[in-house]
Amino acid sequence: MQTAEIHRRWLDFFEKRGHTVVPSASLVSDDPSLMFTVAGMVPFVPYLSGLVPAPYPRATSVQKCIRTNDIEEVGKTPRHGTFFQMCGNFSFGDYFKSDAIKFAWELLTTSEEDGGLGFAAKDLWVTIYEEDDEALALWQQHSTLPDERIQRLGKDTNYWSTGQPGPAGPCSEIFFDLGPEYGIDGGPATDDDRYVEIWNLVFMQYQVADVKSKTDFTILGELPKKNIDTGMGLERVAFIKQGVQNMYEIDQVRPVLDRAAALAGKVYGADHADDVRLRVIADHVRSGLMLIADGVTPSNEGRGYILRRLLRRVILSMRLLGFEGSSFAELFPVSRDAMKGAYPAVERDFEFIARAAYAEEKTFLRTLASGIQILETAVDTAKTGAVAVPGDTAFLLHDTHGFPIELTLEIAEEAGVAVDRAVFGELMQEQRDRAKADAKAKKGQRADLSVYKELRGLGETLFTGYDELTHESRVLGLVVDGVSVVEAREGEIAEVVLAETSLWAESGGQDSDQGLIVGDGFEAEVLDVQKPVPGLVVHTVKVTIGAIGIDQRAETRVDADYRRGATQAHSGTHIVHAALREVLGSNAHQAGSYNKAGYLRLDFTHSEALSSETKSEIEEISNLAIRSDFEVVTREMGIDEAKALGAMALFGEKYGDRVRVVDIGGPWSRELCAGTHVSSSSEVGIISLISESSVGSTNRRVESLVGIEAFRNFAAERAIVQQLTSGLKVPRTELVGRVQDLGAQLKAAEKKIAAFEAAKLAQRVPELIADAESIGATRVVLASLGSVASPDDLRGLALQVRDRLASEAGVVVIAGEAGGKPVVIAATTEAARTAGVRAGDLAKLGAKVLGGGGGGKPDLAQGGGTDPGKIDEALAEIRRSLAG
Ligand code: ALA
Repeated sequence: MQTAEIHRRWLDFFEKRGHTVVPSASLVSDDPSLMFTVAGMVPFVPYLSGLVPAPYPRATSVQKCIRTNDIEEVGKTPRHGTFFQMCGNFSFGDYFKSDAIKFAWELLTTSEEDGGLGFAAKDLWVTIYEEDDEALALWQQHSTLPDERIQRLGKDTNYWSTGQPGPAGPCSEIFFDLGPEYGIDGGPATDDDRYVEIWNLVFMQYQVADVKSKTDFTILGELPKKNIDTGMGLERVAFIKQGVQNMYEIDQVRPVLDRAAALAGKVYGADHADDVRLRVIADHVRSGLMLIADGVTPSNEGRGYILRRLLRRVILSMRLLGFEGSSFAELFPVSRDAMKGAYPAVERDFEFIARAAYAEEKTFLRTLASGIQILETAVDTAKTGAVAVPGDTAFLLHDTHGFPIELTLEIAEEAGVAVDRAVFGELMQEQRDRAKADAKAKKGQRADLSVYKELRGLGETLFTGYDELTHESRVLGLVVDGVSVVEAREGEIAEVVLAETSLWAESGGQDSDQGLIVGDGFEAEVLDVQKPVPGLVVHTVKVTIGAIGIDQRAETRVDADYRRGATQAHSGTHIVHAALREVLGSNAHQAGSYNKAGYLRLDFTHSEALSSETKSEIEEISNLAIRSDFEVVTREMGIDEAKALGAMALFGEKYGDRVRVVDIGGPWSRELCAGTHVSSSSEVGIISLISESSVGSTNRRVESLVGIEAFRNFAAERAIVQQLTSGLKVPRTELVGRVQDLGAQLKAAEKKIAAFEAAKLAQRVPELIADAESIGATRVVLASLGSVASPDDLRGLALQVRDRLASEAGVVVIAGEAGGKPVVIAATTEAARTAGVRAGDLAKLGAKVLGGGGGGKPDLAQGGGTDPGKIDEALAEIRRSLAG
């Protein structure tokens, strides 16, 4: 049975049983305390914990997930994938244990012909939490499992939470027995790989906190309602149903494995270590594809770092298989084709995905090449000295070049050299200790989100500021230094939560509003407005008069000038975006934006710099759109309707079911956007493009000034032009020609001066020759010339003097000062070189005295330094060395 078919049967089964089918959320989790979506329940946490009422009593989904905590196990066991899909059914205070167990048994054991998954009861085992007698009774009631195949286990396996504070509860897991040839008898309690966990039913009943491990956490109390959260591993069921050995061999993954094997000239199944590498490649390529499709790009921190690590492990594994070139252009399209049936976005956005992945591969292959050089040098040294590659070299390779020790060992081993693993191990341990201390320090700093989550429980903050600037509301919460308080006094910085607000919280690229919060006897200046958890607006304020207390009446007052500017800039961003796409084509799409009163910035996917004509064109189209006085229309609608209308969604952004569509001269510009906008494009005023630059290898950035700021910038530039025209006494139209003329005149004059100086210096040749001293059989000219225009003058003079001495053993050392810095030039004739004098040595010697460095060839060399006062000393030192 194909993976897609299992996916389909799952949703169908639960839809028929009253569940709302919910599409997979992004891999990038909404929950700020989780890096990725790690389970099917993550998008439903607000409903499961009772913070937000669930919009439906039951739901089902097939959720994309990423887990990398077991990354070292990938490829070694049959079931550890960094990317996987979790089939889930959820009840929010609706059905509980009995139906959850009944549904699971029914779907698993109903025959394939009747739409089920067709598992034989004799192959299944179940575990329950040791104290859960109710679950035992329900399994006895709903299934045909004999009692000995229902095992009681402890908290470490049968109590489930995300590892973060939140909903949790005892669970019951269903296992598939691969058969006696795969391991020992005794069921899942043996923890043997023979028993594959396929489905986990979590009976969510409690709120936990302080989760230190699977067995060490605090139960805060019961959830408002009893919920069901289940997760069936799609890949695990697929590999069992497809009769293959592991999840890397299923239809959605195997094609990548095969392509990697073909590239490396390996046969899958021939060698265990190679097989593990092939599975790692197949798994990680898919994870990379799916992560980039959800908007993650490689970087050095957070999600981007995890992605980078996955991609680099693919490259290293290919290398360990003996393939050293670039492989992504072969592997990614194969993974795309295997995944596009379930996730059409990977095909639609493939150009972007490929660009990000291929750029990362290119960069890392370069790093690898320089690392390999270091390693080869170390291996050569080790070989000649019959010693091992030092542990600190192995560590350096690991730390700065991303070489896993495995790769270092492998390359060293090929050359017959050992690696000092003991020292390497010590250095690694030190680093781990440092990292731990670091993480601890950071944890202390990170704002604890629980206070916001609690406030969010009071309801979603309503934004009223689309149609009004002032709004009267009530103080629901106050936070000072991360702690809930009942009052904030004059002079204090506090965070204020209100029932409603007309102040815009920073989101969707639009910076937060400026303004005031005013109430009976108090006034506070708004410093920032943010949403620390979805749906909760927090105003950071400085209390300027009186004191704010909980439950007080409070009026939000948006600074009208600021808002007008912000609104112009936000609509301006849409206009520039549409203009960009008109000029560059639809492949240029927005990859991030920021706007505030007077300024906008837009990042977009495009790999090369824009020419000045293109920039002018974008600017012209933007301003023509403003002049066209396009009506700006905002509408709320379903996401599907919005997509059908061609509304531009932001890449990797998450949207709810109801969205706001903003048209500016729609469909010319039609975007999903919650921001504040002008009502007609002419209100934007002016857009002046002030810069275009690169951000990373795949994106470009344009920045513009908007409205009055654009005007002020023009005015400032006009003032500069006026100063120039009056200073240079030419009309504006002749300014450029005049400046060019001046440049050319200056160049010609400099050339003339240089020629004069050279001629003047040349006049000194006879005098220098006359002053030459004899040191042994060598004629030596040592001279300090004072200030010259450039070191080239000194070099020219030294060469002329040397030419005059060409027939004998001659050494010329000329020093001087150019641009405030001392310079020394040394030149030697052939006979002097034969006698063993090297210009390079002399220049170096002089430079040392001058406080710098130098070098060159035996016949001509130059040295420099920092202290012109030491020129005489440097010459004396050189004379001494020649005499010695
Ligand atoms: N949330 C449960 C799990 O991930 C179903 O195993």
